[in-house]
Amino acid sequence: MSIHSVTDTQDRPAPHAPVLPKVDGLLVAVDERCDVGCKFCLRADVGRTALDLPTYARALSRCKELGATSVCLTGGEPTDHPDFVDLVKVAVQFGLACSVVTAARPGSRLRALSAVAGLLSHVTVSADTRGAQRVGATERTIGGAGEVFEALGHRRASLHVTVWQVEEADLADMGTIDDRFGAEFELSPLLMTEHQLNKATPEAVRRQYEDDIRALTTRFGLSDRFTSAVADLDASLAGRLERGCTSDRVYLSPRGMLRRCPYDKAHEVDVRLPREEVAAGVTAMHEAHVPVGSRCALVCGA
Ligand SMILES: C[S@@+](CC[C@H](N)C(=O)[O-])C[C@H]1O[C@@H](n2cnc3c(N)ncnc32)[C@H](O)[C@@H]1O
Ligand code: SF4
Repeated sequence: MSIHSVTDTQDRPAPHAPVLPKVDGLLVAVDERCDVGCKFCLRADVGRTALDLPTYARALSRCKELGATSVCLTGGEPTDHPDFVDLVKVAVQFGLACSVVTAARPGSRLRALSAVAGLLSHVTVSADTRGAQRVGATERTIGGAGEVFEALGHRRASLHVTVWQVEEADLADMGTIDDRFGAEFELSPLLMTEHQLNKATPEAVRRQYEDDIRALTTRFGLSDRFTSAVADLDASLAGRLERGCTSDRVYLSPRGMLRRCPYDKAHEVDVRLPREEVAAGVTAMHEAHVPVGSRCALVCGA
């Protein structure tokens, strides 16, 4: 008979312990609907279903077991979710850093955001140049984002600008945000929907991107934060996206499906399944080759 010390048995892995997949964080789309209604919206899940709290809590629990330390709430418009405040509080109770991507402006959306501002690790405020506003029929002005930064009462925030047909007035608005709040800038080219692309040749779209880069670059007096965002935008437009996804973050759809890529519905697992099946599903997602596309950086950050 052999005798093992307690330490012996604790340190040794169980003979057939499954190797669990590693998850860094969770990107949560809280609703398939969005009443903001930007006509260019490229979110992955569009329909009528909103995420429910028990499914969300289960996803946080499963992902935390797999190593997640953060959750980012997106949508749809997260501040429109009836349980938005609880979504943030539950994430914090799980010990996760909670961030939000939002199109909120003064009114009920900003009130909901303000109610949990102190709990949030980061807020990304989305805005559009005037040209992007025309394409998307949006009201997410750059200037209006100032009121959101003010209401947050902290500087853990960045301004995400969808860039199309940049005008002098857009640059002036960005300069004001830069001066007043010192916010980080994230600049994304407006990606057209299939329908919008039908009205313009790829060459014309590319020429417009180049003009926009030039307009952004020739703006003097903006901070390093701004110029490095322009450099990132330029690099992403010039770069050929040929690599596969290597993201360690997973996406939770409003219907409770976990995916690595929000758009890859061929590799998904229902988070309500037993934990072993969820872990096996996440492993299968990691093994699948999914090419990184131009939408990825916008919607997922991969
Ligand atoms: C899908 S939205 C969800 C969160 C929230 N409703 C918002 O708009 O901030 C996430 C981000 O995707 C960006 N986005 C959506 N469609 C886009 C497009 N066609 N081109 C560029 N950015 C886009 C939005 O501006 C936003 O910053
Ligand atoms: S970009 Fe955001 S605010 Fe606009 S329709 Fe899409 S989800 Fe809604």
